[in-house]
Amino acid sequence: MVRLEVVVVLIFVGVAFAQLDPDDIPSEWLPEQFPNPKRNPQACGLGNKYGYVCDPNLLLTEKQRLILDWLMEGLVKNDTKCPCSVWACEQKRQGYSVGIALVKKMKIPDRSRTVLDQAKVFAHYLQSTHWHYGRCEEDIVVLYSKEDEVLQFMAGKTAGAVLTNQVARAIGNHVGGHFREGGNLPYGLYDLGLLLRDVLNGNTMYALAPKAEALHGSAGSLTVFISTLIMTVLALFIVS
Ligand SMILES: *[C@@H]1O[C@H](CO)[C@@H](O)[C@H](O)[C@H]1NC(C)=O
Repeated sequence: MVRLEVVVVLIFVGVAFAQLDPDDIPSEWLPEQFPNPKRNPQACGLGNKYGYVCDPNLLLTEKQRLILDWLMEGLVKNDTKCPCSVWACEQKRQGYSVGIALVKKMKIPDRSRTVLDQAKVFAHYLQSTHWHYGRCEEDIVVLYSKEDEVLQFMAGKTAGAVLTNQVARAIGNHVGGHFREGGNLPYGLYDLGLLLRDVLNGNTMYALAPKAEALHGSAGSLTVFISTLIMTVLALFIVS
């Protein structure tokens, strides 16, 4: 049933595909230059279909990209409940928005900034300003930069209440291997999408439950970020 729907979507979208000119596409990105799949799907490798995944350097195949996009569309349209005010939810019944930015490499404008800092800046800029999906901060941006080997989550306030730092870290732990050199990127992204769906529906699986020792950590410094800038740094696993 699920598979059938994917096929239908792919056939429909395949027709609308336009060529991306590889010469025009940067391989290093500043967040301000990064396209918005809701505004400029062609630059994101989505053809003419407005969506949630932006993959300008084509890290995924067309088919993988469309399946991932379909998963994200399903999240907001079908698979999660509307977390906003009653009024907003009566106007438009949609759940959490998850945007995925796939980057070959980030351009780091300030030499003193680390890759991890830049990943946070990048994802936060997309989440809060440039993409800014959602109506009540119920949006999440997942940024993956291949050559920087970073995976970064950034959630608006409402989404961050569910996707806490600890949960995000646990998801990172779970899928991290797929994002490493020699891993399986599309599989990692699908897996991540499914875990997010569970978490956003309140099913924090036991595997993702925060471990007792994690609760001791430097909670003070993290809570500052949890509401607005939750971040996970899978990079902790990947970079070292
Ligand atoms: C949402 O659900 C409807 C009805 O079940 C289905 O036809 C549609 O394909 C789904 N859309 C997505 C993006 O999952």
